[in-house]
Amino acid sequence: MKKIAVTASLPGGAVDKLKEKFCIKTFKQKKCLNESELLKVLKDADGAITLLGDPLTKNVLEKTKLQIISNYAVGYNNIDIGFATEKGIAVTNTPDVLTDATADLTFALILSVARRIVESDHFTRKGKFKGWLPELMLGVDLRGKTLGIIGMGRIGKAVARRAIPFGMKIVYTKRKRLIESEENSLKATFLTLDELLKVSDIVTLHCPLTKDTEGLIGRERIFSMKKGSILINTSRGKVVDEDALCDALKTHLFGAGLDVYEKEPIVNNRLLKMKNVVLLPHIGSAGRDTREEMAEIAVSNIIAFFEGRVPPDLIPEQKGMTLFRGQK
Ligand code: GLV
Ligand code: GLV
Repeated sequence: MKKIAVTASLPGGAVDKLKEKFCIKTFKQKKCLNESELLKVLKDADGAITLLGDPLTKNVLEKTKLQIISNYAVGYNNIDIGFATEKGIAVTNTPDVLTDATADLTFALILSVARRIVESDHFTRKGKFKGWLPELMLGVDLRGKTLGIIGMGRIGKAVARRAIPFGMKIVYTKRKRLIESEENSLKATFLTLDELLKVSDIVTLHCPLTKDTEGLIGRERIFSMKKGSILINTSRGKVVDEDALCDALKTHLFGAGLDVYEKEPIVNNRLLKMKNVVLLPHIGSAGRDTREEMAEIAVSNIIAFFEGRVPPDLIPEQKGMTLFRGQK
């Protein structure tokens, strides 16, 4: 029997389906693992379902006998893909199912920052609400404003679709421009990154973390954003220079909404002290239905692989490759 390590308990009953055919070890951790903890968990495992915070580095991978890593996330920057591929380890993710949940959360952050929802809640609880006032908690109206979407993949497009009925103008940037009919249906105008930053009232990040996007939104770019604009990040923390963002939040930006952090799970102390930021604990896909479906998908990729099929959600970098060893 093949051994499958599941690095945390997952919602729903999906993992139970594996029990008939595989020897399953689930680790009931309440945090992401460091390399040495992860190595203990992956010892002897032929396959694994892993979390986005589990560091599947070269150092870890070379000491395992894994044949497949089924990452319980759409992002897989926690895995050394080059080395996994070289070693013939299949890598799968959970795209599509979490698109709407993540776009919903992005919009929740946009509205929370623009209309100062969290700050207003604290104000009210502290007993500071003394009556309706014309200038109490003035925020940013969405109608007529420009939303700049960086990374127009599945999630970026789902955010665009939500912005249309709010009366926002949509601009986007992407490595490969969308075809005209898609631009038309999303009412989205293509710009370069630097143009987008200059014209957007709200900038939202939906690119994966790669060598090309690490530090993409650095100090100069942050300060090239419109004065009084808003930055939203539900992608990966390392895309943004957090320290520069903190400086900009004091003098230049209206606010920021963050679901992810540069040194996750550590949150910059300066951010914790600011009123014009909304800080979430990486919950972009955290709808119950979504998380249960993600578990179904992670499990189905493991099953397909060990039945000798190509796993349906093999990552794009490995699509079309027949690199797998001892699958059967
Ligand atoms: C969440 O951040 C994911 O990559 O699924
Ligand atoms: C707001 O509550 C209004 O009545 O304008």
